[in-house]
Amino acid sequence: MLEALNPQPQDKILQLLAMFREDKRAGKIDLGVGVYKDATGLTPVMRAVKAAEKKLWESETTKTYTALAGEPAYNTAMQGLILGEGYADRAASISTPGGTGALRQALELIRLARPQAKIWLSAPTWPNHPSIVKFLGLPMAEYRYFDVEGSGLDFAGLIEDLGRVAEGDVVLLHGCCHNPTGANPTPAQWDEIIAVLKAKKAMPLVDLAYQGFGDGLDADAEATRKVAAAFPEVLIAASCSKNFGIYRERTGILIALTSPERKAVVQANLNFLNRQNYSFPPDHGARLVTMILEDPALRAEWVVELEETRLNMLNLRVQLAEELRKATNSDRFDFVAHHRGMFSRLGLSEAQVNRLREENAIYMVGDSRINIAGLNRETVPLLAKAIAAVL
Ligand code: LMR
Repeated sequence: MLEALNPQPQDKILQLLAMFREDKRAGKIDLGVGVYKDATGLTPVMRAVKAAEKKLWESETTKTYTALAGEPAYNTAMQGLILGEGYADRAASISTPGGTGALRQALELIRLARPQAKIWLSAPTWPNHPSIVKFLGLPMAEYRYFDVEGSGLDFAGLIEDLGRVAEGDVVLLHGCCHNPTGANPTPAQWDEIIAVLKAKKAMPLVDLAYQGFGDGLDADAEATRKVAAAFPEVLIAASCSKNFGIYRERTGILIALTSPERKAVVQANLNFLNRQNYSFPPDHGARLVTMILEDPALRAEWVVELEETRLNMLNLRVQLAEELRKATNSDRFDFVAHHRGMFSRLGLSEAQVNRLREENAIYMVGDSRINIAGLNRETVPLLAKAIAAVL
């Protein structure tokens, strides 16, 4: 039977990660996969996570199954982190294996409810978005997002394309820190996006994978909160991988906002989807997150470290923009300082990206997306010089 299988396309980001690991050159620089690294190149276990793990080890008395939706306390704490107060009567949710699990469950929920719904994705977007949509056989369309020339948002193109969305279609929005471009709408632009989508009676699906990595925990949730307040129904797929640094624990959440009357049936469908796909969601990471969010001291410690992480990336952005100014004698790359989150798309050709890898052991995704956190104060000037050399 298995002879009928065809090879699958490799995920470009994960392929790059494997290539980097195999590269034996000293001083190689990994700007590929979206994982935070400190100045020494380490992806640290955050202090609050370590403290919560210790506490959990001492206090945990059983590993029996939790609930199908995950622990209620986790769902409540995460709803609070993302949305703030006031959604208890409208929010159904499930704990999921990471943000990818949340997206997958969101798309499966859409397929159950309205299989003909077209899923609109930004062009470009995280490559796994179209991959999962395609895999589930859902119709897909793209809206313009990025102005390649100016390396900023193509807002006119975006609004024009969202004007073509049909009633009942789903529009996937990056809640903050757009992946891969790093370019994000301003609050006023978000208002306009919301107005267009409301007029079209579309359903927003917000992917919130980087809360706390852009402008701060609350600022990064601002757009998601506006969307939540504006629409009767919203899906939010969020990840704890980055902001809690618990990548391999696979911790995420899918929140479905609906009317209080429909909440029970939506929740039943979410539970059903968990049961069909993996029964109970992973618990360890979710439990750590709950402990941190519920304990004022742990929470404060986490917020401090997350803020250090965010500011480190911002400082690297400013330094890189300055070094690129010097190295290229132009303001072509000034946008790097204005983008937010882990990523920026530099606007280099694939051939230039390949040269950087082959000649300088600098690894970035083929579309010239860099992970800012892969840099440190010493490697920023090296990258700037190498880029100037391939231009
Ligand atoms: C990325 O975009 O690099 C991250 O979201 C990691 C991944 O799974 O692709």
